[in-house]
Amino acid sequence: MSDAAVESRDAIENLLSEDRTFDPPASFVERANVADPKVWETAAADPEAYWAAWARELEWSRPFTQGLDWSDAPFARWFADGQLNASVNCLDRHVERGLGQRVAFHWQGEDGERRSVTYAQLLEEVSRCANALRELGVQRGDRVAIYMPMVVELPVAMLACARIGAAHSVVFGGFSSQALADRIVDASAKVVITADGGYRRGKVVELKAATDEAVRMAATDGQQVESVLCYRRLQGHDTPWTDGRDHWWHEIVGRQQAECAPEAMDSEDLLFLLYTSGTTAKPKGIMHTTGGYLTGAHATANMVFDLKDDDVYWCAADIGWVTGHSYIVYGPLSNGVTSVIYEGAPDWPDKDRLWSIVAEYGVSIFYTAPTAIRAFIKWGDEHPARHDLSSLRLLGSVGEPINPEAWMWYHERIGAERCPIVDTWWQTETGHIMVSPLPGLTRTKPGSATQALPGIEVSVVDEQGEPVGRGHGGYLTIDRPWPGMARGIWGNPERFVETYWSQVPGRYFVGDGAKIDEDGYLWVLGRVDDVMNVSGHRLSTTEVESALVEHPAIAEAAVVGRSHELTGECVVAYVVLEGHHEASDELIGELNAHVSERIGKFARPHMVLFTPEVPKTRSGKIMRRLLRDIAEGRELGDTTTLQDPTVVDALAEQVRSRG
Ligand code: PRX
Repeated sequence: MSDAAVESRDAIENLLSEDRTFDPPASFVERANVADPKVWETAAADPEAYWAAWARELEWSRPFTQGLDWSDAPFARWFADGQLNASVNCLDRHVERGLGQRVAFHWQGEDGERRSVTYAQLLEEVSRCANALRELGVQRGDRVAIYMPMVVELPVAMLACARIGAAHSVVFGGFSSQALADRIVDASAKVVITADGGYRRGKVVELKAATDEAVRMAATDGQQVESVLCYRRLQGHDTPWTDGRDHWWHEIVGRQQAECAPEAMDSEDLLFLLYTSGTTAKPKGIMHTTGGYLTGAHATANMVFDLKDDDVYWCAADIGWVTGHSYIVYGPLSNGVTSVIYEGAPDWPDKDRLWSIVAEYGVSIFYTAPTAIRAFIKWGDEHPARHDLSSLRLLGSVGEPINPEAWMWYHERIGAERCPIVDTWWQTETGHIMVSPLPGLTRTKPGSATQALPGIEVSVVDEQGEPVGRGHGGYLTIDRPWPGMARGIWGNPERFVETYWSQVPGRYFVGDGAKIDEDGYLWVLGRVDDVMNVSGHRLSTTEVESALVEHPAIAEAAVVGRSHELTGECVVAYVVLEGHHEASDELIGELNAHVSERIGKFARPHMVLFTPEVPKTRSGKIMRRLLRDIAEGRELGDTTTLQDPTVVDALAEQVRSRG
């Protein structure tokens, strides 16, 4: 078992037993979308039929007759003989049933600009953008990279790709040029959609300049980007431009027809790639296809968020991560609900920004990450208290384990003890929520994601794949195929098999440790591999290490995650200096800048510790558990087997002295 797994098991043993429980309020139960307590049983009796029923809620241009095809396991196929178009299901379907005038997105820029876009307007804009992409030579089967701020044109661009059968690869705007270039090259994207910039904490984020740099880097790596489509978000801004290659959105999209015939896509055609960090330095292009993914996103948005016609729903994630793909774009739109998109930082211009938005639009469902909740707690109760939050009826959490204190604060201060909380566990690879309360049925426990959704089966097992039994910790696995499951890693099917399907016999290996308690409640305890979770952003230790060793002053680097009261985890780097270089604050600044450039600002080390050597096992493996213990300031176990125990003592002293 890996060091991290042992640690996770320790964490399980140390978990306080949480015995507070909360029943859904009667008023919520009365109107709940899923109200039949037998739903889990019914779905378990025939999961394929259960998912097929959800799939039939979508519009298929050619209805499917097949359910799951697992003959090429672990590469699943769902509804494989059916055809559909994701943009039709998110837009045309609602306009055709008379909902064209319903607002799809209330958008608010960080600078206070406001826009509300109806389903009919969104359909027109998507059609125009799709026509523009065709004019730029994008064809069915191509990949298009998207690097945009949180503006309405981001979902427009994604749906426009879907409309013409091109796969999108959205790259979070916080990633660096280098990270964007790596993703352009890996996916062989010929077109990039971006914006001149966006606003973050009152400052302009120069996305076009970063895109230009990425396009240049991609070219030296053999990938020629032919066109850059650039949305104008800023006023009076001097935007770097390459004639012939670059096109302003308002010009090329603006002059297109407002209709665009959708491509009939096979259920198993690629809908999108989304890159995520694994245990190596190279990010994985997770593949999601059309029919199964959309079914899963549609069904789970409906059952977990209990979406209704009169709801105003707000998932405050960034569309650049999977949460935004499934629960800002595909899930809510396929349910025809009205959503909110906010461009900027939660504390700009003040720490009550999100609550002022809830009050302004009458938000009824709010979905965010524990890291944000912990920040709200720190900022003080007066910020939510200043606003009328009585429109809220359901709250959600995602991205990392939510500590019971944060859960209780959310329940009391935001939900006024009236709103069920859905703690939703899932991953980029699962495509949609897998473990979560159903808000009209589940008795919740603060800190527990409760149980697998209907039609999903999970277990907690040991290395041999044997269930560990209630009350014991082990590996979280998923036991049968589900519609939104990843169909592979782009260009690397072997890595897909090896990472997810080889660790535990016969089951999907999640990479998280978990425990099912005596009452059958699931507790997710964090990663058991070398993946960190910083503010809900997934980051690999090796990715940061390889960025650090690229710096000329660094001979060797070892990176671990350490717990952090706000961000969940933070990055701690142990570095060995090259030759004559000397440790200094200036060098730490340089290393931070280097990691920002290579990956993105969010990956910068929180603490850099200089060491003459990195503690390793006899076989040369970095002793990450020991490094984590040092970083956490924990009592160190027996260090006498180390070649030079004084190294470890000196590091522990450095941590102590830095607090
Ligand atoms: O460790 C789990 C954690 O986030 C990982 C997935 O990260 P990513 O693919 O970036 O997707 C994040 C948004 C779905 C998981 O392996 N995680 C996610 N949700 C939870 C969670 N850990 C505990 N509780 C959750 N609700």
